[in-house]
Amino acid sequence: MTVAGRLAEIAEIGRDAERGGYSRHVFDASDRPLRDWFRRSADALDLAVEEDGDANLWAWWGAPGEGAIATGSHLDSVPGGGAFDGPLGVASAFEAIAQLRRSGFVPSRPIAVCAFAEEEGSRFGMPCLGTRLLTGAVSAAAVLERRDATGTTLAQAWRDSGRDPERVGPDPERLGRVATFIELHVEQGRDLEDRGLPVSMASAIIPHGRWRLTIAGQGNHAGTTAMDLRADPVVALAGAVLAVREVAHSRMPGARGTIGKVQLVPGGTNVIASRAIAWMDLRATTDDDVREQFALTVARIRTAVEAEGCTLDVHEESFTPRVDFDPGLTAAITAALEPEFGPVPAIPTGAGHDAGILAGMLPTAMIFVRNPTGVSHAPQEGARDQDCEAGARALAASLRALAGAA
Ligand code: GLV
Ligand code: MN
Ligand code: MN
Repeated sequence: MTVAGRLAEIAEIGRDAERGGYSRHVFDASDRPLRDWFRRSADALDLAVEEDGDANLWAWWGAPGEGAIATGSHLDSVPGGGAFDGPLGVASAFEAIAQLRRSGFVPSRPIAVCAFAEEEGSRFGMPCLGTRLLTGAVSAAAVLERRDATGTTLAQAWRDSGRDPERVGPDPERLGRVATFIELHVEQGRDLEDRGLPVSMASAIIPHGRWRLTIAGQGNHAGTTAMDLRADPVVALAGAVLAVREVAHSRMPGARGTIGKVQLVPGGTNVIASRAIAWMDLRATTDDDVREQFALTVARIRTAVEAEGCTLDVHEESFTPRVDFDPGLTAAITAALEPEFGPVPAIPTGAGHDAGILAGMLPTAMIFVRNPTGVSHAPQEGARDQDCEAGARALAASLRALAGAA
């Protein structure tokens, strides 16, 4: 088997005919077939599968126990996402274990392959849902009350999937078994392509916040309402979009600001909207930078909203602090990669990952695999077959180094 062959097995699951690419969200129609694939992949390697109370999957090589090395990623996607963000880390983990088994390697400690639930937060607005619940980084009760776009609560979706919401929450015992976590991930930029390298380590994840902006105005008739008598939240939204961009631009090179999702209520061609809801994603080099960027942006948005006679409500959906990956672990893995790959750089990323959440609890590292397009969160996201295989070899070498021969 190859990594590409493993990914081919899930290539038809969760395809999005309308947007292109994949839309795979927690407990939607893609969820069960993806979990079934995980179980089949584990069974073929004689790994014992368990699902924790937070809907995260674990496949164990060796009895679950203290000092384990865990590796993996997620199987969900953004709406219309690529094939590699998430699944590459899970497929590579199975492939790395297959290689180690073939080579006769016997680990001196348990190794687990993980697939964490709803990393993108696309359905319920909470990124890294599975790892945040597992680590207790969010309150289970609050998260279970969140609603998806159709109004279904997470608690209801949890029950509908046949799971028990009572089991949701921190699991210190399970987490306590894991000594180290490594996430392999497709690079979400062109750094490795430009450097001519197949793999790198990650040095850090920049912090990021997501806010929901609700701009309320006066719904009205598009034909009978004079232009100077309107309180049109869509006009205010246009000001908000520009404010996000202008503030991020003024704080370059570290800052990024995006409005990637909007909803207009009621949403009719001949109707002035009564509400515009926009989801704002801000990122920068430090936590304080993000907070400051937020304050400046919201001040500008408020000006645009008030100029239109509308009102603004701002709700923080999540905040993810900066993560600097464990330097000792990163150095140990880098040393394990050097015989095959030569000098391996450690590069920062602007993308969030479950490894970042786990880094608050245990030594954690990431391996990136070259992405020739540099595009991510879109169907054009890519990774060449030979680079996927290089990534699996890199992960196998890392596990070999960390799990030592018995
Ligand atoms: C996840 O990929 C994120 O960075 O939002
Ligand atoms: Mn992603
Ligand atoms: Mn990802």
